[in-house]
Amino acid sequence: MKLILLGPPGAGKGTQAHKLVEDLGIPQLSTGDMLRAAVAAGTETGKRAKAIMDAGNLVSDDVVNAIVAERIEEDDCAKGFILDGYPRTLAQADAVEAMLAEKGTNLDAVVELRVDDDAMVERVAGRYTCANCGTGYHDTLNKPAEEGVCDKCGSTEFKRRPDDNAEAMRTRLQVYYKDTSPLIGYYYAKGKLQVVDGMAAIDDVASEIEEVLGNL
Ligand code: AP5
Repeated sequence: MKLILLGPPGAGKGTQAHKLVEDLGIPQLSTGDMLRAAVAAGTETGKRAKAIMDAGNLVSDDVVNAIVAERIEEDDCAKGFILDGYPRTLAQADAVEAMLAEKGTNLDAVVELRVDDDAMVERVAGRYTCANCGTGYHDTLNKPAEEGVCDKCGSTEFKRRPDDNAEAMRTRLQVYYKDTSPLIGYYYAKGKLQVVDGMAAIDDVASEIEEVLGNL
């Protein structure tokens, strides 16, 4: 299955992608995670991307298209993948279509997590992730069962993102509506769009996604 998760910052793309990895046995390809890894590793791409990401703007299409094109060639992507945070512009959508066409395949579905913007600011402001396995949590909305201990791997180390602040979040939402939301119409016109209520509880969103994918 080749799947795109689409939605504004905080919509729950990463949260749902983690669940789908377990259910479908295919990898999550998060361009945000890949870029943050490049920043942490101090690569040339990472050095160029850091200030752009911290401000909430988009890294250039060429850079992210190249990262994804290389990643989908890896063995674990042979049966499919979940694209989380990519594509984010019409140029990236064209690029992914060309990458898949070259492999003689196509997308199965684009799942849009439809949410309310005001709630997104609250979600992002309270977000943190396990520093070891990347599982996402929230100060009030999604706490680990035992405080300070990751449910999945037992780590007690957690981290927060530098772009999860009010100013960068405002920019990220503006960028989403300007550059990314046109993809909703793009995929609707291609008959690929599935809309899910991203305001429901996390497990209910997961069930709705499972249902729409089961009906494909
Ligand atoms: P990226 O890492 O992709 O960030 P984003 O799209 O802004 O999305 P988020 O990770 O903020 O949100 P999410 O939808 O994954 O929500 P989550 O599941 O964590 O990109 C970061 C930056 O990298 C970009 O700004 C850009 O600079 C660059 N970049 C990345 N891709 C790029 C591309 N393709 N092109 C160019 N530049 C690119 O959930 C949020 C919180 O809410 C969590 O705490 C979670 O526990 C909680 N939560 C989730 N679902 C629910 C629910 N249903 N109910 C209650 N709480 C919930």
